[in-house]
Amino acid sequence: MRATIFGASGLLGKALMREWSEDAVTGLSSSDVDIRDEMRVHIKLQELRPDWIVLAAAYADVDGCEGNPEKAFAVNRDGAANVAAAAKQVGARLMFVSSDYVFDGTKTSPYETDDARNPRSIYGKSKAEAEIKLLETLPACCIVRTSWLFGSGGKCFPDTILKLAANRSALDVVNDQRGSPTYTTDVAQAMAQLCRKNASGIVHATNTGDCTWFEFAQAIVRGAGLGTEIRPVSSQQMARPAPRPAYSVLSPASLRALEITMPSWQDALRRYLQERQI
Ligand SMILES: NC(=O)c1ccc[n+]([C@@H]2O[C@H](COP(=O)([O-])OP(=O)(O)OC[C@H]3O[C@@H](n4cnc5c(N)ncnc54)[C@H](OP(=O)(O)O)[C@@H]3O)[C@@H](O)[C@H]2O)c1
Repeated sequence: MRATIFGASGLLGKALMREWSEDAVTGLSSSDVDIRDEMRVHIKLQELRPDWIVLAAAYADVDGCEGNPEKAFAVNRDGAANVAAAAKQVGARLMFVSSDYVFDGTKTSPYETDDARNPRSIYGKSKAEAEIKLLETLPACCIVRTSWLFGSGGKCFPDTILKLAANRSALDVVNDQRGSPTYTTDVAQAMAQLCRKNASGIVHATNTGDCTWFEFAQAIVRGAGLGTEIRPVSSQQMARPAPRPAYSVLSPASLRALEITMPSWQDALRRYLQERQI
C-alpha cells in the first residue's frame, strides 16, 4: 500500500511517520505542498498516486484561528477540500483528521459519531465545515476525530507543564474542561490500522478515560516525580481568545466496532514520560 501524509512535520504527522512502517509512506510538509494551492496539490498527488491520503495538515493553533479566521478557513476547510478533490481525481482513499472541538460541549456523556456538530470556536467551525465538504466530495472518506494530542517532537500540554513546573512551585490549571488526552503514538497506530481495514465514515479515536486539564497536569507532575503544586482554576479566570467545550469526551464505540482498542490516557502518559527521559 502507498500512503501520502499531509502534515508530516506536525506533532501527529511525526508520529504517523514513525509508527506507520509496514507500508510505503511519503510525508509532506507545507514547504513541499501548501494545501491552499489547488494546482500544486493535484500535481503532487498525480506524481505520487497513493492508495491512501492522510490529511493531518491544519492550522491547529486554536487561539490563533480565533484571531485569523481567513487563514483558519483557507487552510482547514478550503485546503482540505482541495485535497479531497485531488483524491477523487487520482482515485485515492482519504482519511481526514478532525477534532473534538466540532462539538459544543453541552453533553455530559461521551459524544457519538452521529451527534450534531455545533462548534464554539473558529477552529472548530473550520474543521466542522471541512467534514461536511469532504463527505459531499468523497462520501466514502474516513474522518478520524481525536482530542487533546500530546507526544514527542513538538509543543504539547505535558511538555509545557513540565517546562513550567521546573521553574515554579505552583501552577494554575483549568478544571472545568473535560476531555481525553491522546498520545500521538497510539492514535497514529490506530489510524494505520483503520487504513488497512479500509475504514470509511466518522470514527472517534482517543485514549480511553477522561480528565480535566487540572487533573491531567497533576498526573504529569506526579508522573515526573515533581512536587509542583497544581491549583484548579476556572476557564473564566484563565481567559483565552477561543472558547473551548466544557465536555468533549469522544465515545470509543466506533473504533471498537472496527475491532481497534486504544490504551488509557494514564498508560499513554506513562509511556510518554518514559520516552521523554530517553
Ligand atoms: N493538537 C491537538 O490537540 C489536536 C486535537 C484534535 C485534532 N487535531 C488535529 O490533528 C491534526 C494534526 O494536528 P497537530 O497537532 O499535529 O498539528 P501541528 O503540530 O500544528 O502540525 C500541523 C501540520 O500541518 C502542516 N500545515 C500547516 N499549514 C499547512 C498548509 N497550508 N499546507 C500544508 N501543510 C500545512 C504543518 O506543516 P509545516 O510544519 O510545514 O508548517 C504541520 O506539518 C490536525 O488536523 C488537527 O486539527 C489536533
